[in-house]
Amino acid sequence: MNQLYYGDNLDILRKHISDESVDLCYIDPPFNSKRNYNQIYNNIGKEDSAQAQAFVDTWTWDSLAIKGFEEIIENDRGLFTLQTINLMLGLQNVLGDGSLLAYLISMTLRIAEIYRVLVPTGSFYFHCDPTSSHYLKLIIDSIFCPNGGNFCNEIIWRRTTSKSLMTKQLPNNHDVIFCYQKSMNKTWNQDHLFIAYEKDNLPEKTSKKYSHQDSDGRMYQLDNLINPNPNRPNLTYEFLGVTRVWRWTKERMQKAYEAGIVVQTKPGSVPRLKRYLDEQRGIPIDDTWIDIAPLNSQAKERLGYPTQKPELLLERIIKTSSNEGDVILDAYCGCGTTVAVAQRLNRKWIGIDITYQSISLILKRLEDTYGTGAIFNVKMTGIPKDIASAEALANKNDDRTRKEFEKWSILAFSNNRATINQKKGADKGIDGTAFFIESEGGHGRVIFQVKSGKVGSSDIRDLLGTMTREKAALGYFITLKEPTKDMLKEAKAAGLYEHKIMGRAYQKIEIISIRDMIEKGLRLEIPMSLEVLKSAKRHQGEDSRQLTLVDERFPVAI
Ligand SMILES: C[S@@+](CC[C@H](N)C(=O)[O-])C[C@H]1O[C@@H](n2cnc3c(N)ncnc32)[C@H](O)[C@@H]1O
Repeated sequence: MNQLYYGDNLDILRKHISDESVDLCYIDPPFNSKRNYNQIYNNIGKEDSAQAQAFVDTWTWDSLAIKGFEEIIENDRGLFTLQTINLMLGLQNVLGDGSLLAYLISMTLRIAEIYRVLVPTGSFYFHCDPTSSHYLKLIIDSIFCPNGGNFCNEIIWRRTTSKSLMTKQLPNNHDVIFCYQKSMNKTWNQDHLFIAYEKDNLPEKTSKKYSHQDSDGRMYQLDNLINPNPNRPNLTYEFLGVTRVWRWTKERMQKAYEAGIVVQTKPGSVPRLKRYLDEQRGIPIDDTWIDIAPLNSQAKERLGYPTQKPELLLERIIKTSSNEGDVILDAYCGCGTTVAVAQRLNRKWIGIDITYQSISLILKRLEDTYGTGAIFNVKMTGIPKDIASAEALANKNDDRTRKEFEKWSILAFSNNRATINQKKGADKGIDGTAFFIESEGGHGRVIFQVKSGKVGSSDIRDLLGTMTREKAALGYFITLKEPTKDMLKEAKAAGLYEHKIMGRAYQKIEIISIRDMIEKGLRLEIPMSLEVLKSAKRHQGEDSRQLTLVDERFPVAI
């Protein structure tokens, strides 16, 4: 069964992923870019493109970094090589205790776990960029090489074709993908490492070689049929009036001649073999990948996720370094490019991400692309399934995940159809937004407010005020603490909203308790006919039913 984990990959790798259980691991972690990335949603209605912080890529020297450093130096659970320990001590000497070292510690802890979970025939691909790639290579070398693994390649992927000049430096146009093997006996499918020839864009040498064309446009060259070994009496015979030592037997030559593959260009000339260009494997791929275009703003694949990678990139990696049925791990899975491609290529997969927005996007991507069947086969872990785990999420005292409770409750309640609000100021009081078709050509706005602390009837009055100001048709107040009677009375007093198309009325304000979401599977009922997040292109030939998402407990909604 495929597995999707919501949480910090270090905890998940440690608790849930057993030794030697993964055939291929690709990761595309934050690059230490010192900026935060934003999720860009579709523009709907009058809204500007709303942005919500997708993940954070700033690093500080804090208690987590110190703890991680100690774990490495003390060789926690025997996971670290002497080389890794000495390297970290050296890096501390050179870099000092700061953000770069904190980033490298975070990566070291996780790469050591990844090494542990890989099968001996497994491969590891680490996607990064020149910001920290040279430090990272030292670290990965120190984990893989002393244990019989090996560095295989530094793949340069040209991720943008931007030509704009920079001040006194060249434009940075490439990412780096390090490729490592756990042993010398790795899975490697060479056949996928060719780029098919394009007739209109042939290398000069190839186009000179394949200079002939059939009437149907197929390009070919005339190849030699003469045997390089002159001492083969049984292959010496006359064919089309020419006697030579041939490569093939007379029967084979005759058959090939009848099939039109052996030709004589004029009477008496030496027969030759027609070798077609479209039957050749193509141009061998090396470690510089310029044939995979980045996702531009118009790309069909694009989901609005800031660092989304093209499926072709993952397809090449997965096809080359795994076989059908193998387990693929992406411990930083973002909007789920690796898992979506693994699904298509009949691999099993494990995805991990620390933000609920990613989990929500992945579920939606799988559902949109492969139908709900794909989601039924996903075991989800880490999503709150009882009040205690919802409280634990709400009370997480971690800057990186502070808004996670809000994100989870809104996205889960709206079946992944809402956007998360990050704006301050004018949008105060709105934690999330969704839209529904209200009338022909018009859409109504739904706003969500989430509270994990004490609540009272004044919160409901505030929500009504916000709804009036924002011209929202419906408001949902999601609360971890149970609502009071006064709150319920206040919500009822807000009145009803008549939905013309649905021909029914909805409470203008509804109070949703996390308990009801968890225990009764309560979800947003109003049909969200407009998709807020871009929908992934549906994979042809798969279950195309449009259904709601599921989790391990509720077969109808996450
Ligand atoms: C660069 S993005 C991955 C993009 C992905 N390759 C794609 O094509 O969509 C990095 C992801 O790592 C996640 N992440 C960062 N730190 C993490 C951690 N400690 N555990 C799990 N996921 C993490 C972020 O939430 C983000 O979604």
